[in-house]
Amino acid sequence: MKILVIAAHPNLQQSRVNKCWVTELRRHPDQVTVHELYAAYPEKAIDIEREQALIAEHDRLVLQFPLQWYSTPSLLKQWLDEVFTTAWLFGPGGRAVAGKELLLAISIGGAEASYQAGGLIGYTISELTRPLQALANQIGMTLLPHFKLYGAVQATDEQIESSAKQYLQYILNPELDPRIARQRMLDEMKQKMKAAQ
Ligand SMILES: Cc1cc2nc3c(=O)[nH]c(=O)nc-3n(C[C@H](O)[C@H](O)[C@H](O)COP(=O)(O)O)c2cc1C
Repeated sequence: MKILVIAAHPNLQQSRVNKCWVTELRRHPDQVTVHELYAAYPEKAIDIEREQALIAEHDRLVLQFPLQWYSTPSLLKQWLDEVFTTAWLFGPGGRAVAGKELLLAISIGGAEASYQAGGLIGYTISELTRPLQALANQIGMTLLPHFKLYGAVQATDEQIESSAKQYLQYILNPELDPRIARQRMLDEMKQKMKAAQ
């Protein structure tokens, strides 16, 4: 399985979490392609065909970003708006991304307890990422459970380094699609029922 990580941090040099995550991923170029969006497009002039070709070559697309005002950094939104054209997604030649997997990897400044009903923020990350979930549905991508680091601002260096290792292992797991676990559970149930007969 080929994995593409679009790392979208407006100032990666000043970053602690996203920089550490990218550094960890870059140690495994045979398994993960890392594409740093802000470094690739300092003038924000996105090469749409290049990006579409990159996506086409991979099976799993990871969008990695720091949560900024409960959303993605602006260049990532621009990238989605410009690269995911209707003609490319649905035009002749097939559905460009249908069947591919989409995974969000988000560093979140606030504490996990804030991101729930009744909490300081009051909304979950799943609620806040609804537009990206709707997009995945619309274009036939399989949305996988997010990878998240809460408390990213307060995290210690050790916690960040440990999260980077977890992140790598997480995105390398070929069986993140919840349908795989469900199918396995059904198969096990069938086998048990058969054995009990
Ligand atoms: C402009 C801006 C907006 C932010 N908005 C949020 C936010 O809405 N919610 C939140 O929990 N953290 C927010 N943060 C904190 C970042 O999510 C946090 O600094 C980042 O995830 C840490 O990762 P890094 O070390 O890679 O920069 C914001 C930070 C900036 C600079």
